[in-house]
Parts: sequence; C-alpha cells; structure tokens
Amino acid sequence: METSHQRILLTGASSGIGWHLAKILAQDGTNRILAVARHTETIPSCGNTVIPFQADFSQREEIDRCFRYAKEHWGGLDLCIANAGFAYREDLQQACHADDTSWKHIHNIFDTNTIGQIYTLQAFTDPEKNPNPECQKRMFVSMISAVAKVPLPYYALYCSTKSAIEGFLNTYDYEKPVWLQLMRVYPVATKTEFFRKAAMEEKPPLPLLRQDPENVAKAVFTGIRKNQCKVYPSRIFAIAYPFMRAFPFLTRLYSRHEKLKMQRHFRQTGKTNRRM
Ligand SMILES: NC(=O)c1ccc[n+]([C@@H]2O[C@H](COP(=O)([O-])OP(=O)(O)OC[C@H]3O[C@@H](n4cnc5c(N)ncnc54)[C@H](OP(=O)(O)O)[C@@H]3O)[C@@H](O)[C@H]2O)c1
Repeated sequence: METSHQRILLTGASSGIGWHLAKILAQDGTNRILAVARHTETIPSCGNTVIPFQADFSQREEIDRCFRYAKEHWGGLDLCIANAGFAYREDLQQACHADDTSWKHIHNIFDTNTIGQIYTLQAFTDPEKNPNPECQKRMFVSMISAVAKVPLPYYALYCSTKSAIEGFLNTYDYEKPVWLQLMRVYPVATKTEFFRKAAMEEKPPLPLLRQDPENVAKAVFTGIRKNQCKVYPSRIFAIAYPFMRAFPFLTRLYSRHEKLKMQRHFRQTGKTNRRM
C-alpha cells in the first residue's frame, strides 16, 4: 500500500522497533501518526506528523479512546501497526507466588500481547469505530516474533502469547473483509530494551540470532509498501526456517542450546526469576 498520506495507528512507539518505525513513517511529512505508548516522553517529535498518545493497550477503554480520537480528528485510520508488547524471562517452576499474583502475571502479558492486539484489530475493522464506507484497502500489521515458530526456553509465557496471536491471524485470514490486508512480522532477537525489561537485568544473555531495530523497522516499512503478508526481517532466519521445518531436530538443537546457555547464566548469577 501507499506509505504516504496515510492515517496511521502505531502502538509501542516510545521505544525500540516502534520508535524507529515512527521516525521512518514520519520522514516524508505527509502521514498522520497516532503514536501510542503508556509513557509518551520519548516518542519522536516530528512536527505535526507524529501525535504522541498516552494509552495502555492492555485495556479495552484505552483502545476505544484511541479509535475515538482518530475518528473525531481524522475520520478514521488506514493503517494499524500493533507493535506494543513485552516479555517475562523466568523459570516458571521457581516462580512461587500467591495464586492471585500468578493469575495477574499471566493475564498482564496476554492482555497486552494477544487480547489487546485482537481487540485492536476488531476495532480497526468495525465500521462504527473506524468507518470505511468506500471499502478502501487497509492494512493491519501484527508484530509477532520468531519465537512463535521456534521455542525460546524460559520465555514460555511470552512465546505462548505470540503463538496465540499467530494462530488467531492465520484463521482470521479466511474470515476477514476483502479490503483488509494482514501482515505478520517475525523479528529475531532485536537489540532494544526488550530483553533487559524481560529479565530485569542489566546484561541478560541474548539469543543467538540478533538484529538492529532500525533494520526491523525498515523491513516493516518495505513490507507495507509491497503489500507483503509475512515479513522476516532477519535474512538468516528467513533462509534457516524452511530447513528447521523440514528437519525438526534442528529446532530442537537450537532451543536446547538456548536452554543450556540460560541455565549457565542462572548458575553464574544465582538469578532465575525476574521477581527475585
Ligand atoms: N526485541 C526483540 O527481540 C523482539 C523480537 C521479536 C518481536 N518483538 C516484538 O516487537 C515489539 C516491540 O518490541 P521492542 O523490542 O521494540 O521492545 P521495547 O523497546 O521494550 O518496546 C516496547 C514498546 O511497547 C510499549 N508497550 C508495552 N506495553 C504496552 C501497553 N500495555 N500499552 C501500550 N504500549 C505498551 C512500550 O511503551 P511503554 O512502556 O511506554 O508503554 C514500548 O514503546 C513487541 O511486540 C515485541 O514482542 C521484539
């Protein structure tokens, strides 16, 4: 689709991949970008192009508020990039807390990474919340992750939120309106604050395959322009993944390697749980 003169909703714009995407989308000065995060101070200010918008996308009312703003000020949205998300790195066996805390812990991550995204997609396609009387082509971009394809030990809850959203989109693809294009993005480990926040550690070990957030943002931008359904920002992963599917022992080898690396780290630091 066109990447200029669009009305865009971008979540998770205060940091990492979303921050770089906001910069790229704002470059030609013709787009209007509603840039969402819970903390808006760091959202890049690019004249009138980027509108920082404080909202928590794990909350239904906050998502509705965002769509209300876009409808009242711009008449609707053409492109939605659901990028907000976070992870926990933890050993679930060691995570012993009260049942109520555990329940909330699980809910928090699913509310943001999965339920918030699905609800955002429903709002995006709802003619009341986002009118599209002429059935113009529109695109919904979902920031999934390579972990939806290849398990990353000690990130079980995070991986499951990403697998769930992928499963939802794979099915919804057959049900969606014809004017809607879905794009799924599968970055590998990206050098943002993501892993530090997940582990609550200054220097957490990163998975083997890594990339820069600028490159992920560029790949997403190109994917939007070329109407791609799936974007693999890491070329190495794009090449390796078909082999991993054909020979599943390769996936098991990779995940076991990550498990052993993390266990070594736990032994060295004595820290297995982000809440310790
Ligand atoms: N980094 C990686 O290795 C990697 C790999 C694959 C996929 N991904 C996915 O890529 C996306 C972006 O990750 P990143 O690496 O750029 O991480 P990041 O630097 O930590 O950025 C995450 C963004 O999401 C926002 N956010 C988190 N929870 C939110 C909520 N409830 N409501 C609204 N905004 C929220 C954060 O802003 P506030 O805290 O201010 O709300 C921040 O702007 C995530 O969905 C992540 O799962 C990341």
